[in-house]
Amino acid sequence: MRYILLITFFLNTIFIANAQTFDYSSSSETPPVLKSVAPFPIGAAVGIKHMRNNPRYRNLVKEQFNSITAENVMKFKAVHPSEHVFKFDNADEIIAFAEENNMRVHGHTLLWAMSNPAWVRSYQGDKTAWKNLLKTHIQTVVKHFKGKVRSWDVVNEAFTDGGGLKKSIWLQKIGPEYIELAFRYAHEADPDALLFYNDYGQEYVGKKMYAILNMIKDFKKRGVPIHGLGMQMHIPVRLSDAKIQQAMKVAAGSGLLIHLSELEISVKHQMPKPFMMNEQLSRQQAEKYKTVFRAYSSIPKKQQFGITTWNVGDADSYRNSKGRNHDHPMMFDTQYRPKPAFKAVIDALKQP
Ligand code: XIL
Repeated sequence: MRYILLITFFLNTIFIANAQTFDYSSSSETPPVLKSVAPFPIGAAVGIKHMRNNPRYRNLVKEQFNSITAENVMKFKAVHPSEHVFKFDNADEIIAFAEENNMRVHGHTLLWAMSNPAWVRSYQGDKTAWKNLLKTHIQTVVKHFKGKVRSWDVVNEAFTDGGGLKKSIWLQKIGPEYIELAFRYAHEADPDALLFYNDYGQEYVGKKMYAILNMIKDFKKRGVPIHGLGMQMHIPVRLSDAKIQQAMKVAAGSGLLIHLSELEISVKHQMPKPFMMNEQLSRQQAEKYKTVFRAYSSIPKKQQFGITTWNVGDADSYRNSKGRNHDHPMMFDTQYRPKPAFKAVIDALKQP
């Protein structure tokens, strides 16, 4: 087994070094710039450690993107580590970088069951106390970033694939109302901020997406402030073009701003055996990126909030976190060289 892994690693390395990148240095073309070609904002989710320690990463973010999402440092447990402590230094660093480079900052995320700190998980109190906790958290964070963070993923991943509400401490302690309360609290704290609901798996246009769309309809009817829908788009390369196109259409039907908020295209198919990247997959991935950008371009201009990729280079992707996968989901390779996917996106954006 160990030998198979070694050989796989070796072949992958050769492939990545030789074939996978699109080599602008061997052509007369200068590398194009995503943010200059795109008619809508192009975002990257960034990790604070990379931003601090990796100049290639930072420069690429500066060069190619005009919108930023913090990959982790604005989440609940990062900014509110204990009941009476708020910690904004890491997030403020990202904001300063964005300001220096004229980039938009999209806030992620005020409420996500997966980012509850330990103190929240063991918090004791009645329903009113829980509502107050939620209100204090949301309003302190939103007010801190007021004028700097103009849009927020208010609630993240609240629905199951079957269209029900996911079990979470918020649902348990407050009830289904916790979602609209989160939106109302955020709006009160910054009436100018654009408020998004963000979730994954909507691209399958199944029960989950329709449940989300029903919630949006209900919110609009009852005057609960909501302005945008975030579709994460952590997608596999095998997802059909037709589904992607349908998903964009259905999402646009909500009338809200649409953000492809966490895009990356996995080529690994969750295969248990050692995985090998190859040229065919790389081409398929490039085509899929193109499809996503073309499909997004077809939604009404005024609803195009932008497309954000979930990190920058292949090595940084959360799909490769904990060394568990050897996936190649991004537009840039492990050395931050543009891949065929990058070239395909540029081509897609240049098409009228
Ligand atoms: C992920 C980050 O990329 C990881 O570094 C972290 O350990 C866990 O969270 N959906 C989301 C993102 O909304 O916040 C998640 O980010 C990926 C899935």
